[in-house]
Formats: sequence, C-alpha cells, structure tokens
Amino acid sequence: MTNVRALAAQTLFQVVDKGQSLSTVLPNAASKLNPKDKALLQQICYGVLRYLPTLEHYCQQLLDQPLKGKRRVYQFLLYVGMYQLQYMRTPEHAAVAETVNALQSMRAPGLKGLVNAILRTFQRQFSELEDSANRIPVCQYNHPSWFMKKLQAAYPDQWQDILAANQDQAPMWLRVNQAHYSVAEYSELLDEAGISHCLEPRFEDAIVLDKPCDVYLLPGFREGACSVQDAAAQLAARLLNPQNNERILDACAAPGGKTCHILELADANVDALDADSERLLRVEENLKRLGLHAHCIHADASTPNDWWDGQPYDRILLDVPCSATGVIRRHPDIKWLRRNTDITDLAQLQQQILENIWPLLKPGGTLLYATCSVLPEENCDQVAAFLQNTDDALHQPLHQDDTPTTPGLQLLPGLSDGFYYAKITKRQ
Ligand SMILES: C[S@@+](CC[C@H](N)C(=O)[O-])C[C@H]1O[C@@H](n2cnc3c(N)ncnc32)[C@H](O)[C@@H]1O
Repeated sequence: MTNVRALAAQTLFQVVDKGQSLSTVLPNAASKLNPKDKALLQQICYGVLRYLPTLEHYCQQLLDQPLKGKRRVYQFLLYVGMYQLQYMRTPEHAAVAETVNALQSMRAPGLKGLVNAILRTFQRQFSELEDSANRIPVCQYNHPSWFMKKLQAAYPDQWQDILAANQDQAPMWLRVNQAHYSVAEYSELLDEAGISHCLEPRFEDAIVLDKPCDVYLLPGFREGACSVQDAAAQLAARLLNPQNNERILDACAAPGGKTCHILELADANVDALDADSERLLRVEENLKRLGLHAHCIHADASTPNDWWDGQPYDRILLDVPCSATGVIRRHPDIKWLRRNTDITDLAQLQQQILENIWPLLKPGGTLLYATCSVLPEENCDQVAAFLQNTDDALHQPLHQDDTPTTPGLQLLPGLSDGFYYAKITKRQ
C-alpha cells in the first residue's frame, strides 16, 4: 500500500489502538513513500495525535455509531480527513477526494459513500462542532485528563503554557562538536550553506535552526561536526562536567546523545550501559560517526552485581527511563500511550536504579540524575527522598532555589524540551 492517507490511518490505528510507539511504526510506513509523501505522512500522523480528542469528538457527533472491530481503521481515516480540513492548508475538495480515494487501496470501496458524507457534513457543520469541542476541557487542551490534573497540581500558574507548548512543533537544535569547531565557526559554515539559524548563549554548544532540515545538508555532519540534540538534553554533559582520564558511567545511555557529548568534552573512559540491545547499537553508530570510543555494555542498571567490575566511577550520569512527558511535542503519541499508573511503576524503577547505582560512585564523585519528565514524582520528589535516606549523599544546588527538599533544575517545554537535572556528590 503506498497511498499516504491510507498509510496514515493504518499507522494511527497501530499507535492508538494497538499501543505501538510512533517512532517504531512510522519509519516502516514511510519507507514505502517518496520524500514528499513521507513528509505528508509525518505531518498528518503527528497532527492527528496532537488533536486526537477533538477529532474523536467530531466523529462521535457525526457517526450514528463508532466504527468498531475490523472497521476501526476507517475511523482513523476520518480523523485524517478532518485533520486536513481543519488544520492543514490542503484545498477542501482535495482533502475530501483524496481521503475517499484512500479507501480504494484499503480495499474498502464500499465505504466511500459514508466517508464522503461524513467529511461533507463536517465541512458544513464545522463551526457548531468546533464550539461544542471547545466546551470540553480534554478537547480544549488535547491532553489526557489524568495528565492535566497532575500538571495543574504541580504547576498551578504554568500548566496551560506547558500544554500549549506540547502542541507546538519542536525546533531542530544542533549540538556543535567543539572538538571540531567553535559555535561561532560552525554558525559561519551554516551561513555559507544558506541554513538560517540562531545561537542561544544559555546553551553553550547549541544552535537552533529556523526550519528543520535533512541532517546530510548540515556542513560536516557525516564527519561528526555536529549532532541533532535538544538544547535541554545538551545540559547533561555540561552539568556532569567530565574531565580527562576520568572513569565515567552513563548508566542508561542509548541512543548515546549524552555519551557522545561527554566524550566531545573530555578524553574520558566511558562505560555506556543500556538494557536494550537494539538501542545500544545506536550508541555504537553515533560513536562511530563522531570518531569517539566508549565501552558499550548491554546490562540492567538496577542490578550492578551482574556486570560491575568493582572499579568505582568518578562520575555517573543516570538518565533514567521516565514518562517522557517533557518531550510530548516531539512524541505526541506519549499522550495516548502513557497511563497514570505507569508513573508509579516508573518512579519505583528510577528509585531502584538510583539506590543500586550509588555504591558504584567514588567518595568525592559526582552523580547527575536526569529525566525528560515534567512530573515531580519522577524528579524532585524522587531526589529529595534519596537525599533524605542516603547519609553520604550531598546535594549540589544548580541554581539559587535548588534546595534539598525541592532539589534540582526543572526545565519546562518551550525554548527547549522539558528536562530535569539534579546533582549529587558523595561524601569523601
Ligand atoms: C531516556 S533514555 C536515555 C537517553 C540517552 N541518555 C541519550 O541521551 O541518548 C533511557 C534509556 O534507559 C534504558 N533503560 C531502561 N531501563 C533500563 C535499565 N533497567 N537499565 C539500563 N538501561 C535501562 C532504555 O533502554 C533507554 O535507552
């Protein structure tokens, strides 16, 4: 099947109904398409996932009964059609005709009449439908209600801004490999290549592009001149502050963005560990492109007795598995794949990893705890409990309001992704 709208409907069905991640399903679907259609497929899938509750509401209003069982995928095709009509610049007649045509390649020509009728009614009744959606909070903000409640409790003044930022398209940030070029030098190379961009002094290795572009158009990308990495993620290596010849553990390393950054900043002996062997291959690919070396270990960070050689580490980066609620704008499927109950399970795993990795740190050594979450359970609550229960853990403030009872630096999505960092050293 190479019809882009049909592929979008199938992809969305796999994500929303079958619980698969968009980053797994989308590349597979896109591999069948030319570059222009690939971009369209991505735009439609991201867009529908961003506005899913609103589109579901429209369908509920327009269909006598929801499409169920084997017909469920056609409901996603309706979302695809409605998304183009409401949010894209596709001419209306083309949006309807192309969506109806997709049924041919989905081997359901018998549904053409129904899909055509629903989309035409949607066009006619759009303003009433939009008004009714705006009266329902889940449709107004297009996030699950459990998550909105958690955000309201944690950020009474900022929760709406966070939800709005999550609906935006994420910018493309580059991390300049300062072992090759300074940021100013690389900025000149980008100017010469006609790639418009800005520098952001708060992030010392970072450049943000005005428009995302193919990485192979970036000067020296193949040779390791830069990497694609959000500015907030770039803080990890800078806060860890690696030094030459140190022994460093990156305990949840894949795909290796932060491992490589650590090695760009220092000639250190890095163990890059991850529990996922497939993802660990990505670490090796990234190291290779950048001409760097780390010792990659496929193991579970929560059970170091199975793999640790007994040599303590000078520094440890713990970029633990988390809800990824700080990177929703890059992965809108997170909103529909995560459940409220996952947060408790994740917090337990994070606590286990933190407690079991701590003995591997040298006295006087530094541990940086990191997540791409905005939820306190995974961030400041987690670190505050650890500090309270661990005699030899010393809290190191990252800013003036970073205290042992509300520790860490919480970045919210906006300029950069949402990220959390806390720095802890071990008493000598
Ligand atoms: C947030 S990602 C790490 C991103 C990485 N630090 C980077 O900058 O590219 C979390 C990683 O933890 C890994 N992971 C999950 N559970 C783990 C465990 N028990 N032990 C080690 N790694 C684990 C996942 O496979 C995932 O690659």
